[in-house]
Amino acid sequence: MTQTQPDLSVEFCGKTFFNPFLLSSSPVSNSAEMVARAFEAGWSGVAFKTLNSDRIPIIHPSPRMNPYDYGSKKLVGLQNVEQISDRPLKDNLLDFLYLKKHYPRHVLISSIMGFSNEEWAYLAKASEDNGADMLELNFSCPHMCVEGSGHKVGQAFHLLEKFTGTVKKAVSIPVIAKMTPNITDITEPALYAKNGGADAISAINTVSGISEVGLEDLVPKPNIFGVGAVSGTSGPAVKPIGLHFIADMAKNGNLGLPLSGMGGIETWIDALEYILLGASTVQVTTGIIHYGYRIVEDLIEGLSDYMTQAGIQTVSELVGRSLPHLQTTDHFDLNRQGVAEYDLERCIGCGQCYIVCRDAAGQALEWDTANRRPRLIEDKCLSCMICSFVCPVPGLISYQEKDSRWQRQETPVMDPALESGLKLAPPPWL
Ligand SMILES: Cc1cc2nc3c(=O)[nH]c(=O)nc-3n(C[C@H](O)[C@H](O)[C@H](O)COP(=O)(O)O)c2cc1C
Repeated sequence: MTQTQPDLSVEFCGKTFFNPFLLSSSPVSNSAEMVARAFEAGWSGVAFKTLNSDRIPIIHPSPRMNPYDYGSKKLVGLQNVEQISDRPLKDNLLDFLYLKKHYPRHVLISSIMGFSNEEWAYLAKASEDNGADMLELNFSCPHMCVEGSGHKVGQAFHLLEKFTGTVKKAVSIPVIAKMTPNITDITEPALYAKNGGADAISAINTVSGISEVGLEDLVPKPNIFGVGAVSGTSGPAVKPIGLHFIADMAKNGNLGLPLSGMGGIETWIDALEYILLGASTVQVTTGIIHYGYRIVEDLIEGLSDYMTQAGIQTVSELVGRSLPHLQTTDHFDLNRQGVAEYDLERCIGCGQCYIVCRDAAGQALEWDTANRRPRLIEDKCLSCMICSFVCPVPGLISYQEKDSRWQRQETPVMDPALESGLKLAPPPWL
């Protein structure tokens, strides 16, 4: 029986993207030559590197990035102090004309950042006049060196609304507002952007952070000739923050705008998670910095295979599908409890589970030294499952729900005789 190929195309702001995978605005989308190669590799669209109007010269600090490696894991994150585009506006716009001429089916999003009301309007109009299909307003780069630049706007909601309104008046193409994650509640600025007329929201830009300090020179990295700074963190380390913010916006009943998700996407599974939590397109930078444009092959193939196996025909059926399962923690059923279950046939006797259970959990394991095997005392198991996280054998330790009559034991106090010396006032509410 022949199976029909799933349809990866998505509608976003009235445009059809032939798949949901875009380059995000950054060095991976810096010129037509680069974007053309990315399009050839399979990406359906681009948020071009944020345009500058030439009024203020842009000089990038050097070096402009630092890897956040953890143990043997390379680039779990990336720290960068790169600014918006340092190319002349004319060169960037000529690149737009080139891309629209040679890749009319691909979607060109012009990312802009103004330093004043007029400049936002000017960059917006110049982008539209030279073929941009939509705009992305960069309200969110956390480390611009130029005072008054758009990044602070992401935290000043009235300005964000005002500049969105200015841009909307200047152009007729759709406008996406790109949000900073460096706030508490992302739905707030997103609603201001909506009031200003934004057609969609993208998130997240980089997370303000310091991922490494040089131990010899004591300078946070990247070390710009003896000076470090709080700067932008991206890559897998920030994915939990990106997913959280996309989900928050998708669940907000008052927002109702299409979402473009990014932050730490490297594989089709990362991309699918963003889609399941409400993004209809996804964007990538650090994954490409790590592996190159070719990762789009994995994104396309993985998502297609997943959809085929799940019997899903269109990406839109997947958008937001996890949201009904996402509740606040007060919705948990605390009457249902469980424990860890061990398949000791497969145990290699490393003892990791025993160590972490003793030092960080319920002391629910005893160690059989002769046989080098853990022995679980079920009644003490907290079901935190950290033993399974450190076990090197996949699937050896699993979670098992217990019968509702099952009771976990209280942790005994070390010395009940100390009770007479206990100092504890009666609670004020009694
Ligand atoms: C070196 C670098 C430069 C970036 N420059 C821009 C930019 O000019 N405009 C912008 O909107 N976002 C910029 N970003 C942010 C990315 O577009 C993206 O929002 C962020 O890196 C999270 O995605 P990721 O984890 O896939 O990198 C930059 C990111 C990096 C790493």
